[in-house]
Amino acid sequence: MRSAAELLASEIRGQGPIPFSQFMETALYHPEHGYYRSPRDPFGVAGDFYTASQLQPVFGRLIAAVMRHRCAQLGDPHHFTVVEWGAGRGELAEHLNAFHHHSVDIGRGGAPDRFEGVVFSNELFDALPVDVVRVRHGAASLMHVGCRDDAFVWIDGPAVPDEWRPYVERARALFPSGEDLWLELPVRLRDTLAAMAAPLARGFIIAIDYGYTAPELVRFPRGTLMSYRRHRAVEDVLRHPGEQDITAHVPFTHLEACAASLGLVSSPLVTLARFLMDAGEPDQFASALAAPDERQALRLRLQLKSLLFGMGATYRCITFRR
Ligand SMILES: C[S@@+](CC[C@H](N)C(=O)[O-])C[C@H]1O[C@@H](n2cnc3c(N)ncnc32)[C@H](O)[C@@H]1O
Repeated sequence: MRSAAELLASEIRGQGPIPFSQFMETALYHPEHGYYRSPRDPFGVAGDFYTASQLQPVFGRLIAAVMRHRCAQLGDPHHFTVVEWGAGRGELAEHLNAFHHHSVDIGRGGAPDRFEGVVFSNELFDALPVDVVRVRHGAASLMHVGCRDDAFVWIDGPAVPDEWRPYVERARALFPSGEDLWLELPVRLRDTLAAMAAPLARGFIIAIDYGYTAPELVRFPRGTLMSYRRHRAVEDVLRHPGEQDITAHVPFTHLEACAASLGLVSSPLVTLARFLMDAGEPDQFASALAAPDERQALRLRLQLKSLLFGMGATYRCITFRR
C-alpha cells in the first residue's frame, strides 16, 4: 500500500516541484491516504486535536439554541434547514436533528438543492488548502514543494499570479520593507464559500474558526501554517504528509470581501465566547447545563468553561446573511 508521502514524492518526480496547495490537498484529502480520508480518527483524546464539537453536549445544545433563534428571525419557515459544512465526525448531528439537518464533507453527504435556513461550519476554512508566498529582498514568489534526500523541502517557485498580487501588496505594506515574509494565499476560500451559499435561498451562513483581520496580520510575519500531531503543534508542515493535520489561520477580512462579492451581508466578527454567551444567556445557560446528577452537571460546567474561556477567546464567529 502506498502512502501520501510516496504519492507526493512520485508527483514531484513526475512534474517537478509542486505548489503547496497541491501538497496540502494530497496530504489532507487524497481519497485513500489523505489525513481526513484515512480510517484513523484525527479528533479527540486518541487523535491529534480537539475541536469545539468534541465538547458535547454543551456545544451542541448552544448551537441548537442559535438555530432556534435564527429560525424565529426568518419567521419560522415550514422547512427550516441546517446544513453543516465540513461536518467531520458528525458530533453535532444529534443536536441538530430537531431541524431538517444535512451534513456535507468531502466525499460524503450533500445539501438540498435550495433551502431556507442556516449553513453552519466549525473549523472548515482553516482546513482548506492554501498557497504560500515568500517575500524576500523585495521580490514575492510562490513557494513550491520539492523532494531532497527523502524529505520534502521548500523551493522558490514562480512569481505570484496576477490575480493575487494586490492581496500580497496589501499584506506587504503592513511590514517594514526588507523583512523576510511568509504569507498564505487562501486560494480555495471563495469557491468554498460560493458552494455553501449557492443552495441557500434565504438565511444565514455561520462560521466558527480561528484567524486574523487584515491589521492583525502583522502578528504573523512567518505566516500561520501549522501542523498538529498527538496534541502537539508541529512547525514543519512538510513532515509526515497524511499523518498530521495542516492548518492555516483564516483571513477574516478577505472572507468578508469574498462574501460581499457573492452578495452576502456580513455581521461584525465576534469572539466564540461572545457568540456562545448570546446563545446561552436567554435562559442563563439552564438548558445547556441541564443534567440528571451532580457528576454530569460538573462535567457540563467544565465543558462550558473550556468553551467560554479556553477556545472562546481565540476562536471567532462570523455570520453572513442572504
Ligand atoms: C478541522 S475539521 C472540523 C470538523 C468538524 N466541523 C468539527 O468541528 O469537529 C475540517 C473538516 O472540514 C472538511 N472539509 C474540508 N474541505 C471541505 C470542503 N471543501 N467541503 C466540505 N468539507 C470540507 C474536512 O474533511 C474535515 O472533516
